[in-house]
Amino acid sequence: MTDTNYELLDSQVHALIGDEQDPLAATSNFVGLLYNALDDVNWLGVYVLREDELVLGPFQGKPACVRIALDKGVCGAAASSLQTQRVADVHSFTGHVVCDPDSRSELVVPLLVNDQLIGVLDIDSPLAGRFDEADQAGVEKLCASFCALQEARKYFI
Ligand code: SME
Repeated sequence: MTDTNYELLDSQVHALIGDEQDPLAATSNFVGLLYNALDDVNWLGVYVLREDELVLGPFQGKPACVRIALDKGVCGAAASSLQTQRVADVHSFTGHVVCDPDSRSELVVPLLVNDQLIGVLDIDSPLAGRFDEADQAGVEKLCASFCALQEARKYFI
């Protein structure tokens, strides 16, 4: 489905945020880079784990829901299972949290630092079935790089 060169994108992640010590700045640029590199995406951002809920962090796209409980939505499913959620059609996902009605498919990757959940990366597309296995593997690698860089910083997001 995608022509994205994830290897190149991964090297761009390291070049862009590898030396930045401020986690908020690094996360903002990580999100900005991915949003502009991926085709057919209407929303891309991070939800940060705060206590027992997910709270909106840096993102690109329309204003979104600020808080998501861990038992709600695609983001909550990714956070509570620690498993990537790749949903071809959000209309068939029970409990999907509608933020942007344009969204049809969604890829949500848990972000883990030192085996601890710090949040999730959420990517929405207006196209059903936008994300295939290669996208999932590519985005998971980008998130692993992001988390490894976050680990080197004093605090996270
Ligand atoms: N659809 C998500 C909520 C976040 S927005 O898409 C930005 C969900 O079901 O968790």
